[in-house]
Amino acid sequence: MQTQTEHQAETQWVAVLDAEARGLVAAVDAHPDARRVFDGTIDTAGYIHYLIQTYHYARWSTPILGEAGQRLKRLGRHPELAELLIQKAEEERGHERWLLSDLKNLGCPEAQVEAAARSPAVDAYTGWNFFTSRSGVPAAVLGTAYVLEYLSQTRAGVGAERLQAVASIPNIHKSVTFLRSHGALYGDHVAEMAKILGRLTDLEEQAAIILSARATRSIYPGIFREQGPSSHPLGR
Ligand SMILES: [Fe+2]
Repeated sequence: MQTQTEHQAETQWVAVLDAEARGLVAAVDAHPDARRVFDGTIDTAGYIHYLIQTYHYARWSTPILGEAGQRLKRLGRHPELAELLIQKAEEERGHERWLLSDLKNLGCPEAQVEAAARSPAVDAYTGWNFFTSRSGVPAAVLGTAYVLEYLSQTRAGVGAERLQAVASIPNIHKSVTFLRSHGALYGDHVAEMAKILGRLTDLEEQAAIILSARATRSIYPGIFREQGPSSHPLGR
């Protein structure tokens, strides 16, 4: 039987994670180009920049999550979290193809996407998450997943609708697959994760998950173009 204090401690730690997720949405809303992507008023170059940088981190989602899950399983710890990571790795499989397809429909072929320079934010994101997955606290990746899924749930679907409504980008109707799919996908994912994570009592694991949520909250806005329409996209 769980005591009142234990229950409160669990709820409190997930509330910290929630605050990081809301912090990420606030940071995105405060970033000029990020706000324009999700309110539909972004110009073509800014949207392409966002999709290319997203491709360069999203393509690693399956290995990052999957390796973390397998490692946690090998370590024989938190089997429920290991399964959750492995499940998420499968759910993310192939999502980078939506980005390539959206980009192709915007006139940006795969070779150009591959050749584009990655922003420092993308390198920081993949570096940090591969580190925790392969040699840090493997469950930490769930902090990254939590805040990104929360962002998707609150902004991706609406963003896809707004981009099509504003329609200032040529061929935009064929170029919102990534956003539209993510808005629909993550509907109840966040609540489901909160429920599972609420049962985690290990303080070090909680701290590692919160640290990754914070790292992603601070890194993610850097994938958008820094200074709006006048700045040159990377890799040109
Ligand atoms: Fe995805």
